[in-house]
Amino acid sequence: MAGERGSMKIILGITGGIAAYKAAELVRLFVKRGCEVEVVMTDAATRFITPLTMQTLSGRPVRLAQWDDMAHIDLSRGSAAILVAPATADFIAKIAQGHASDLLSSLCLARDCSLFLVPAMNRQMWDNPATRRNLAQILEDGVHVVGPLEGVQACGETGMGRMAEPDEIASAVLSALSPKILSGKKFLVTAGPTLEAIDPVRVITNLSSGKMGYAVAQAALDSGAQVILVSGPTCLPPPVGVKFVPVASAREMRDAVMANVGGSDVFVGVAAVADYRVANPSSSKIKKGGTLKLELEPNPDILQEVASMENPPFCVGFAAETGNLEENARLKMKRKNVPMLVGNLAQDALGRDESEIVIFSSGAAKQLPRAAKTKLAAQLIEEIARAIS
Ligand SMILES: Cc1cc2nc3c(=O)[nH]c(=O)nc-3n(C[C@H](O)[C@H](O)[C@H](O)COP(=O)(O)O)c2cc1C
Repeated sequence: MAGERGSMKIILGITGGIAAYKAAELVRLFVKRGCEVEVVMTDAATRFITPLTMQTLSGRPVRLAQWDDMAHIDLSRGSAAILVAPATADFIAKIAQGHASDLLSSLCLARDCSLFLVPAMNRQMWDNPATRRNLAQILEDGVHVVGPLEGVQACGETGMGRMAEPDEIASAVLSALSPKILSGKKFLVTAGPTLEAIDPVRVITNLSSGKMGYAVAQAALDSGAQVILVSGPTCLPPPVGVKFVPVASAREMRDAVMANVGGSDVFVGVAAVADYRVANPSSSKIKKGGTLKLELEPNPDILQEVASMENPPFCVGFAAETGNLEENARLKMKRKNVPMLVGNLAQDALGRDESEIVIFSSGAAKQLPRAAKTKLAAQLIEEIARAIS
């Protein structure tokens, strides 16, 4: 079953289709989001991708045979889900019929957790009446099906049957497994750095990667919220399911936030918004030579502006400090009049996959030990859900 959020165990079954190579990326995504992944491969799957690759990425031995131990029953105990990706036409037929002819199908038949199948096959296999019948049967039996997609297939044909992309699969599975504690709530989240033009080719920016903001947006989505993500430039793909609003400068971010904040229940300002911008950016490239002096003027304070609206959403600010965390965070909370503020040490957090945060709310300070930002984001979302309930 799903244990503590962000540490659930997923059994990833791989069957013998061309799309098996995408399972490698899938393991990486689940591990990145704090899950333990146990890989089970059919004999045919090992013809397409090696158990060694899957073992290396999951950090655990890959299960192949059903005769070694009681794995055909025991393996799914304590697991949140079995996910079979790709699921061949042959494997879907087995599940529809209740076969237990290899380790993976036995595990599926003897499971006490959710089962997700991700079909991937040639379009004619997908359209075949036998596959249609089998699919209708597994849906009736309560199996979750993710995809397939329409598009160009490995065989060169175009049609329905392409496997869903790994990020969509991971989101669909983790979202379906998360308790919907924020169902019906609307979140507006900002993330990433801002860019302040010096001239047409140069900018002032900062080291924010956007990882924490994207993790907060993802955790809110997983908990059932509708999420708008306003983001400065990052290298991250937006979480599947958010309304994504890309911006560059602090003023663009401010305008995007004010245009989208109406109707929001929660505003989480994770973005590292530049405090200053260049007063007179040059319209042509500044030539080299001599000393260059830039005059800076203050940018709008987005969090403060949202918090001082007539009916503000529940506002959560972020403070990246280089020292005196509690003192600076409390001052910022008071100055901006926000009910919750997340403090972290900039040197420990910027650009990294992990961080250590303190959640300050009226009177209380909750220290969350060093962990993946995805895990911290899920814990923060739980705190926010408690505060607004
Ligand atoms: C090159 C090749 C590619 C294949 N690709 C697929 C596929 O994408 N989807 C599918 O359903 N079957 C595909 N098959 C057929 C399966 O590999 C075959 O049905 C196999 O018995 C499935 O075994 P499994 O479901 O136990 O893994 C392919 C076969 C070959 C030889």
